Amino acid sequence: MRRMVGLAMDRIVEHIESLPQQPAADIEGSLELARSLIEADPPESGAPFEQLLDPLFREWIPKSFNTAGPGYLAYIPGGGIFHTAVADLIADAVNRYVGVFAAAPALVQLESNVIRWFCRFVGYPAGAGGVLTTGGSMANFTALVTARNEKLGDDFRGGILYASDQVHHSVQKAASLAGFPHSNVREIPTDDRLCMRLDGLEESIARDRAGGLEPFMIVGSAGTTNTGAVDDLRGIAAIARRHSIWFHVDAAYGGFFILTERGRAVMRGIEEADSITLDPHKALFIPYGTGSLLVRDAAALQRAHSLHAVYLPQMQEEAGLVDFCEISPELSRSFRGIRVWLPLKMAGVDAFRRQLDEKLDLTLWATEQLRLIPGVEIVAEPQLSIVGFRFVRQGLNSDELNRINERILARINDRKRVMVTSTVVRGRYVIRICVVSFRTHADRMAMAIEDIRAAIAEA
Ligand SMILES: Cc1ncc(COP(=O)(O)O)c(C=O)c1O
Repeated sequence: MRRMVGLAMDRIVEHIESLPQQPAADIEGSLELARSLIEADPPESGAPFEQLLDPLFREWIPKSFNTAGPGYLAYIPGGGIFHTAVADLIADAVNRYVGVFAAAPALVQLESNVIRWFCRFVGYPAGAGGVLTTGGSMANFTALVTARNEKLGDDFRGGILYASDQVHHSVQKAASLAGFPHSNVREIPTDDRLCMRLDGLEESIARDRAGGLEPFMIVGSAGTTNTGAVDDLRGIAAIARRHSIWFHVDAAYGGFFILTERGRAVMRGIEEADSITLDPHKALFIPYGTGSLLVRDAAALQRAHSLHAVYLPQMQEEAGLVDFCEISPELSRSFRGIRVWLPLKMAGVDAFRRQLDEKLDLTLWATEQLRLIPGVEIVAEPQLSIVGFRFVRQGLNSDELNRINERILARINDRKRVMVTSTVVRGRYVIRICVVSFRTHADRMAMAIEDIRAAIAEA
């Protein structure tokens, strides 16, 4: 065991120490590489560990987006703190079973504490609870199934769900997986800041009610993936309450910014939601594989997921103790709680708060620098840590502008110091910078601005 861990650790340390020097993405030839690795026959006999580690670290890991590096400003980063890698080793090595409380009570409790802390972060009252999931998509799905169970009967085909035209597609996917036709999901238009229009929401609910349909769920966003827009959560909560509709907030990306004063101000009203998705593998910097769902009335989660089986041990009935299989779709599951528990215990919440404050500062700084570049238009002012911009020039039509911005994006990324991605906002191609990785600091943001300036000059 020591030999294996030692050999792996040598490679890991070398890899992590070189992250800032590694290209922000290195994918030339990666498709051919992947094809060359197709292997139909499983190995009949074993191979030495070193022989397997070598190509993994030398050839296969490098051919990828450098999602752990400081230059990763694409999609939604996180970085992946090392404490969790060690936590995973411990969890996998001891291989305890946390699907039911009886099998590892103390470990289940550690994980429950993480959920309690998250409930505290968002301002939920006693009686709230939740579950760590594999990601935001599963959290949104679990929320939707819970809302369906609370608000609709067995024939739920008339149930209507409302979300803005900027909502993450995992919400539409969740609706479809939960048995709703696509036509039961209403896309509510957004305002200039790309936040849900409350008048549009009210009108849509009234129209559906008048038509004999059953509005049952509104999904607000606390940080859209496109531009980081945060809906008027308090306003949506009031509408949901008036119509007795389940209010879910998808805060997968933005939620942990609530640890900062500025984030808390932007997300006012989140505590009024019936449920909230929060992803530790985004703005809590945990490596991929952990999302979470918080539910204001934990009993609702249980009502939607609890089933009896004769071969299972006795489930908990004591208040505050929980069997994860009773509140989620999963039975067997990894001890994912330690992935979040260990770093929070070791670093303390304030370390995360300071990191997140720094990301907000870096985004504001980058926005001011972008404004100084001739021709740059800020399409989406940052509400959290995403800024959307594009280059404009008089006399070019919208197709030409879109193409020139595509070229600019390619040139920024060709320099390989940062990786940024694009989106489309009302037909306009927009370049977006998303600052979430704990390894991204002022020096890398300065490189990003340098490369954007150069790319615009060239294009
Ligand atoms: C706002 C939002 N919701 C949900 C998701 C889906 O989360 P996951 O990729 O963890 O399934 C994402 C992913 O980026 C997101 O940004």
